[in-house]
Amino acid sequence: MITLDKIVQFAKTTGFIFQGSELYGGLANTWDYGPLGSLLKRNIKDAWIQKFQRETPFNVLVDTSILLNTEVWKASGHLAGFSDPLTECRNCQRRYRADQLIEAHDPNIDPSGWSTDQMYQYLIDHKVTCAHCGKAEFLPIRQFNMMFETYQGVIKEQASQIYLRPETAQGIFLQFKNIQRTTRKKVPFGVCQVGKAFRNEITPGNFIFRTREFEQMELEFFVKPGTELEWFSYWKQFCMDWLINLGLKPEQLEFDDHKPEALSHYSNATTDIRFKFPWGFDELWGIASRTDYDLKAHQTHSQENLEYLDPDTNERYLPYVVEPSVGVERLVLAFLLNAYDEETLENEDIRQVLRLHPKLAPYKVAVLPLVKKHHQEQALALFETLSLNFDATYDESQSIGKRYRRQDAIGTYLCVTVDHDTEETQSVTVRHRDTMEQERVLIKDLPAYIKKQIHY
Ligand code: GAP
Repeated sequence: MITLDKIVQFAKTTGFIFQGSELYGGLANTWDYGPLGSLLKRNIKDAWIQKFQRETPFNVLVDTSILLNTEVWKASGHLAGFSDPLTECRNCQRRYRADQLIEAHDPNIDPSGWSTDQMYQYLIDHKVTCAHCGKAEFLPIRQFNMMFETYQGVIKEQASQIYLRPETAQGIFLQFKNIQRTTRKKVPFGVCQVGKAFRNEITPGNFIFRTREFEQMELEFFVKPGTELEWFSYWKQFCMDWLINLGLKPEQLEFDDHKPEALSHYSNATTDIRFKFPWGFDELWGIASRTDYDLKAHQTHSQENLEYLDPDTNERYLPYVVEPSVGVERLVLAFLLNAYDEETLENEDIRQVLRLHPKLAPYKVAVLPLVKKHHQEQALALFETLSLNFDATYDESQSIGKRYRRQDAIGTYLCVTVDHDTEETQSVTVRHRDTMEQERVLIKDLPAYIKKQIHY
């Protein structure tokens, strides 16, 4: 597999992802999505919405706010407990997450349920060293809250402190009653949301894997208590199938079922889908059975009844929740790593080709005039027609061979070339990214042909 450094370089030179604020020396761990990256991101979100909302009879879509009443975070437990164990090297002042230091020291240990004292004792007993200076001198661990604070209000002194949401899920829980009432959905049903989340991570890094600003795609699936583990298995497999259908290889993916002692206090089953990143298997997607923890917390704190009334049985209850939650950027990274290929051709040339699933490819089709002077007008007219239905691009500079290679490298699925025969035969050459095979297609058949090729 390609290295992380190489994919960072590739993403930058092709226009997928640039460093944020680069003109001013950058802002650590921020990234901007360029012309190709923003299309890839959008295609991933569209594919998720298509599968998780549009194609299921169960689920609806919402878009709730990033700024929420601070009471939400008191009720949900985020203000008191959304923290990571922070420690610092006494010698070089480098900051670490203590749980990550322990896991790096012994990958067989899972310290997620440990107290800060237990973690600190481990660091001392096992003489865990700082990766930067090599000294084993860590300061006592303190819990560091990861929520970003900001202020709402015009006059600074009177402005009230609020927080940027660290997950999109809470907006769904707050609107549970309104959504159920207006859609008249019966349990089981689910609510999907795609949106930004913010976490003041202690150790962001690995390119776009862990950042402080990111996008989540979350489904909160409401079920009758007692049926949650069945639904948990259902969504687990559903998520895995979605990844494989979009081209990730089964051998690059694994379930990491959390052991009972490592479960959060509100969960009765949790698994991560892990992807084989260049540094090893790591979390791509978290799937948790969260019981009625969130609805109960908001019901208690707000003193509003959030119970569901089953119209068939007249039972009243707080539904349990199964939650698959995934970061868009982690998916971007996984799909890019998986798709990047350097193919050695018969003439020993190396062809750089990005084998993205056609649904994810930034451009489905490139329109190319064989000779700019003769074919530009027809090619531009064709581009205009095709771009009404497909993400299309137009390229007329340099030789046709170079243009094909450029399109291969950014994952464009088909290249359509207007040439000397086009006018007379009303046909074009279509070249396929993966096989480089070419065929002649009538212009009038082109939209249907492309649709079929990209599985729309
Ligand atoms: N509502 C549940 C929740 O937020 P999580 O395991 O903290 O659960 C879910 O996050 C997913 O969001 C992760 O599996 C990951 O894909 C993504 N994610 C979390 N923190 C992230 C970060 N700092 N940068 C990028 N993606 C992140």
